Amino acid sequence: MFSKSLIAIDFGSSAIKLVEFADPKAQKLKNAGLETLPANSIVDGVISDADEVTNCVSELMDRLKISKFGRRAGISVGGNAVMMKKVYIPEGMAGGELIELVSSEAEQNFHADLRELYWEYLVLNEVPDSQGEVPVLLTGVSKDVVDGYIEAVRNVGLRVGVVDCDVFCVMNSYEHNYGFQDKIKIFLNIGAKISQMSIVNAGEYLYSRDINFGGDDYTAAIKENLDLSFENAETMKISASQIGGEQNPEIVNIISEVNNQLSGHISNSIADFLQMDNNFGGEMDSIVLSGGSSKVLGLDAAIAAELQIPASIMNPFAGVDLKKSNASMDYLLEQGHLFGVASGLALRKFNEK
Ligand SMILES: Nc1ncnc2c1ncn2[C@@H]1O[C@H](COP(=O)(O)OP(=O)(O)OP(=O)(O)O)[C@@H](O)[C@H]1O
Ligand SMILES: [Mg+2]
Repeated sequence: MFSKSLIAIDFGSSAIKLVEFADPKAQKLKNAGLETLPANSIVDGVISDADEVTNCVSELMDRLKISKFGRRAGISVGGNAVMMKKVYIPEGMAGGELIELVSSEAEQNFHADLRELYWEYLVLNEVPDSQGEVPVLLTGVSKDVVDGYIEAVRNVGLRVGVVDCDVFCVMNSYEHNYGFQDKIKIFLNIGAKISQMSIVNAGEYLYSRDINFGGDDYTAAIKENLDLSFENAETMKISASQIGGEQNPEIVNIISEVNNQLSGHISNSIADFLQMDNNFGGEMDSIVLSGGSSKVLGLDAAIAAELQIPASIMNPFAGVDLKKSNASMDYLLEQGHLFGVASGLALRKFNEK
């Protein structure tokens, strides 16, 4: 028999993050850990060095003392490999008629041969709008990309139980920790290369957009301006962002400039959404930041000032008992923000759809 808990693995371009809960209701954390990946092992969301990635997962599991035998892993995909599109179809469709319509919508919207994609549809709301239509979310990802992750996980000695998308994982982690929100929230998962933005109304997906901008852009700006190595610039960025960290005015200025650039990208993406959905009349409640770069010095304040709504950094374990976890409180206080995707992925059961 397989153990019920899922080993959730978030493959990022900079590091692999793993989360496992101790109980089926995900109230107690069992494992959380991270292993840095050599540069360019995962590029644009695609595994380019399978051996490095497999070794990295294997080493992380060994370090966390997780046995691989008979275990299932959850994997999540994100970035440019994932396509999402919300479409509207007439209400009351079912069976073959429904499949035929959503297939043709998927083909048109993804501009791809569906045989080359893993794709699915989800009716977001059964209540029809004034035109008698219901919203359906189409999600597609290239088989080649997903198969690369599945192979990496199998090479570690695990089976794959669940495949999810980063943006849904973050949304689910938020709801698990902070409860259902009857409001319009913007989620922003800021990694090393990519910031994934999604807009959600009372738990219902409205829009998502990947912004090719992340923590590496801060590091690159520090590197160039101060003529440092990437590694030194990275250390400077993180130390400036830590509470009580060293506040070199030059670095603070560079970070602040890049904060403004990222805030501008987010603002433009929201403007695109509003332009696309002319009927959108709701008011954005707040923006929730996750991902490694959510803690960059002053980023939350810069985004709040740009969008004129509150911004907060999500703690993916805010509602979780950490006492029995292998990770110390100190570690999770400092690094917890990196586990937004993995914590949401770990909520899934492998026999779920
Ligand atoms: N405390 C911190 N302060 C500032 N930046 C941080 C901190 N911790 C991590 N980062 C930055 O976060 C980034 C890594 O975040 P994360 O692990 O979410 O990215 P990733 O998933 O590997 O990347 P991607 O999703 O873009 O492929 C790096 O750029 C790193 O420098
Ligand atoms: Mg990531």
